[in-house]
Amino acid sequence: MDRLRVLVTLPLFDEVIDRLSASFDVDVSREGILAEPEALARRAAGCAGLLVSGSPRIDAALLDACPGLRAVCSMAVGFNNIDVDACTARGVLVSNAPGVLTETTADFGFALMMAAARRLTESEHYLRAGRWNTWRYDMFAGQDVHGSTLGILGMGRIGQAIARRGALGFGMPVIYHNRSRLDPAAEAVVSARWVDKPTLFAEADHIVVVVPYTPQAHHMVGEAELGLMKRTATLTNIARGGVVDDAALARALGEGRIAAAALDVFEGEPQVHPGLLAATHVVLTPHIASASLRTRRAMADLAASNLEAALGVGPTPGRPPTALNPQVLAARPC
Ligand code: GLV
Repeated sequence: MDRLRVLVTLPLFDEVIDRLSASFDVDVSREGILAEPEALARRAAGCAGLLVSGSPRIDAALLDACPGLRAVCSMAVGFNNIDVDACTARGVLVSNAPGVLTETTADFGFALMMAAARRLTESEHYLRAGRWNTWRYDMFAGQDVHGSTLGILGMGRIGQAIARRGALGFGMPVIYHNRSRLDPAAEAVVSARWVDKPTLFAEADHIVVVVPYTPQAHHMVGEAELGLMKRTATLTNIARGGVVDDAALARALGEGRIAAAALDVFEGEPQVHPGLLAATHVVLTPHIASASLRTRRAMADLAASNLEAALGVGPTPGRPPTALNPQVLAARPC
């Protein structure tokens, strides 16, 4: 029987490619992000599965160009780049990679929040530029993290992991806003208090944004929300570009209406709004919140397990561990 062909959309750990090669003919794109939809469609034509890294757009047009596709397995937790309904309609299994990156991503979100509050990168740039020749009582004086109020927008796994760091490690009162409230036992672990969105923005000293991107979440943090924030407050976005209105944030920073921001995700990334690049009180990183080697390997392994199972091989054939639309497998002929 012919082996199925799968495409890995960006270079990945050799061990993971070797593992997939035991069952499939594996094509690894080595030419960087297949951001051009036509290039991706050409490369994916004839493939039964995609292991998606990076966030190429997987939509109806791509699916129509690749009628043999049966599985799209992403190594990210966010899946706003994938049209799951279009996949389901065509019987294509979709999976993401939740759980394995929670703590690593929470570490990074917390680090970004601290870096913004304590003006870490700004002061490092000053030192590296050879401008350090004096000491002043207010030199790079920022905002305290310990004991200040942590505000979390979105309280899923990663939000809760950040809340634990703040409450248990830094003595921070935690407030949060989320569509659904945590159950009382989960709220009690971090003494978190649900508040409405305006209250979150008005009361928090440090706000961390961790909501998944959906059309409803577009610009959920814009001029109005930024206008409610304290002048001493910081905003950290590790969710997705587009949840925060980057232009409005650049204006708020430029006019000193908030103290600082830290961003790992951007609207239109890898492009970054010029106003953010020009601002001093902002820490900018290239979408790396989950990037520890151990976690990236766990994400890739989980995507590989999903791909194997969706294509009927591996230890749990037919049962991908983190499928988003498992119903398509039930509908497939045996
Ligand atoms: C990273 O942004 C992810 O969604 O895993």
